[in-house]
Amino acid sequence: MAGNWKMYKTPAETSAFFEKFRPLVEKSEHCEIVICPPFTNFAAAVSAVTGTHIRIGSQNIAWAKEGAFTGEISGAMLVSSGVTHAIVGHSERRQYFGETNATVLKRTRAALELGLTPIVCVGERLEEREGGLTEELLKIQFAEGIAGLTEHQFAKIAIAYEPVWAIGTGKTATPEIAADAHRAIRAQVREKFGKDAAEAVRILYGGSVKGDNVKTLMAQPEIDGTLVGGASLDAVSFASIVNF
Ligand code: 13P
Repeated sequence: MAGNWKMYKTPAETSAFFEKFRPLVEKSEHCEIVICPPFTNFAAAVSAVTGTHIRIGSQNIAWAKEGAFTGEISGAMLVSSGVTHAIVGHSERRQYFGETNATVLKRTRAALELGLTPIVCVGERLEEREGGLTEELLKIQFAEGIAGLTEHQFAKIAIAYEPVWAIGTGKTATPEIAADAHRAIRAQVREKFGKDAAEAVRILYGGSVKGDNVKTLMAQPEIDGTLVGGASLDAVSFASIVNF
């Protein structure tokens, strides 16, 4: 269960969140919990989760090791900050910051080289869904991005299916719609990396996940977890998702 805080919270607000969140998930060992705060909150977040099973992730990672890349953050910087996961290719990065399938692949490889777990995001926009192009789009995102990994690398990633029309809109994909998309992604995985890889890969659903819809989403065998935006900002609401 992963929380993507996007561009919210200061270090002080981060510490206050974990103060409240930690006891609520103390016994939740049925799943991995990852919170991805803004870069400036890593120190506060990592210190707050030390000794717990909560992990801290980043919302991005540079493809280069270091260099003249203003505004980027390298894998080594993340690792040395105590970060273990990295979201790659979030639709907001694709939409507003020029992220492409090719850069998603490069960033994913950079994360893997340093032992970080990439959470690679895919998902269609409203016009693609309405045009009946969802599967086609997922195929292209897979073929031009994730399919460039080796089998060994692929075994270490998680995928997040986040339909853009469901993000921050309150319009959750129905469990059936989400499961259909997960099945389509898994079929791509099977074709490229084989049956075992398709069964093993974790595919998270993201898009308006809340305490009151998480149960029906997670009841779909195709859905292995969730990537939560808005509802991960509040300790009680994210704990209710983790403890669904
Ligand atoms: P919301 O849960 O706010 O719709 O955001 C989903 C998301 O983008 C998580 O990465």
